[in-house]
Amino acid sequence: MVKSIIKGAGHYVPENTVTNNDLAQRMTTSDEWITERTGIKERHHRKNRNDAEETTAFLGFKAAEMALKNAGMTARDLDYIVFATLSPDYYFPGCGVLVQEMLGCDTIGALDVRNQCSGFVYAMSVANAFIKSGTYRNILVIGAEIHSFGLDFSDEGRGVSVIFGDGAGAVILSATKDETAGDILSVNMHAEGKYADDLCTKFPGSKYGWSDRMRLEPGAVTNHEVYPVMNGNFVFKHAVTRFPETMMEALNAAGKTIDDLDLFIPHQANLRIAQFVQQKMGLPDDKVFNNIQKYGNTTAASIPLALSEAIAAGKVQRGDLVLLSAFGSGFTWGSVLFEY
Ligand code: UT7
Repeated sequence: MVKSIIKGAGHYVPENTVTNNDLAQRMTTSDEWITERTGIKERHHRKNRNDAEETTAFLGFKAAEMALKNAGMTARDLDYIVFATLSPDYYFPGCGVLVQEMLGCDTIGALDVRNQCSGFVYAMSVANAFIKSGTYRNILVIGAEIHSFGLDFSDEGRGVSVIFGDGAGAVILSATKDETAGDILSVNMHAEGKYADDLCTKFPGSKYGWSDRMRLEPGAVTNHEVYPVMNGNFVFKHAVTRFPETMMEALNAAGKTIDDLDLFIPHQANLRIAQFVQQKMGLPDDKVFNNIQKYGNTTAASIPLALSEAIAAGKVQRGDLVLLSAFGSGFTWGSVLFEY
């Protein structure tokens, strides 16, 4: 039977660090408020507009380079690319093709996934299905975001803009028949589209702006409608309910219990959400990995960024049982349970 093994992981963030105090210079907020409500101390922001190279695709490319190196592979070994992002370089095409070109791959397929905070879980589920079906052998799965060019840094947007950061993470998922190797043991994906408007960015979009035959209303920029809007409390309440559900579904599907877990890596949405879920599931501190303090919420990048750091820190060893779970815009949520 074919197994899906994580051969290597990598991550990359722009050099420029922005602390809570830096943000307090730009809007009415404080280190105290941000730390208490979210656990975030700093995040990385692409430096300036002239730095046209440091795009979402570029961040993904750098993470991919590290993942390939750690897997002992080159771009020529890849069969397929899955790229998850909500902040692509272009409206179209997606970032997958841009990374394919940057890496110098052959004409392999490149798919973009638009599932926001759950993007990496969805991307891994797709890659796993391609491997298990025998379609592809080595798949590059990336989550990357540049949020800092799409946030409202006025007081009006402070409930959202203090949370998000730029970054990227990547893994190489490979087929193996080695009986002693790890495997993806179960995946689940969920969505509840009736809540699409509770966490979204409307423009550019084809739903509005039809009178001008543009994807942007003339007033969208001045009205701040090009920025994400979030019904924060509502999202929070759904997240703390859906996380335990998807976690238990993943464990039950593989015949595992919460005590079998070696590490839980939640999507880094808010430290309070992660701590609430940890407590509800009865997980000790050393079985949960968080790094939101340093990076903020990097949506599709947050899980692979955390996974790559956890592996580099020796917190994930071969044979360990690891659970990745996410919840976010859509609403969408889901999990990937794997043996490393
Ligand atoms: O990753 C995708 C999914 N996203 C999430 O999971 C995020 C879920 N939601 C959250 O993490 C939280 O709801 C937030 C961190 C976004 C907000 O925390 P909260 O405890 O729900 O705060 P709130 O929105 O209820 O706002 C409380 C107060 C308000 O003032 P009043 O109306 O009580 O006077 C806000 O205006 O805090 C104010 N506020 C701020 N104050 C200082 C909002 N943002 C800020 C800010 N600095 N940045």
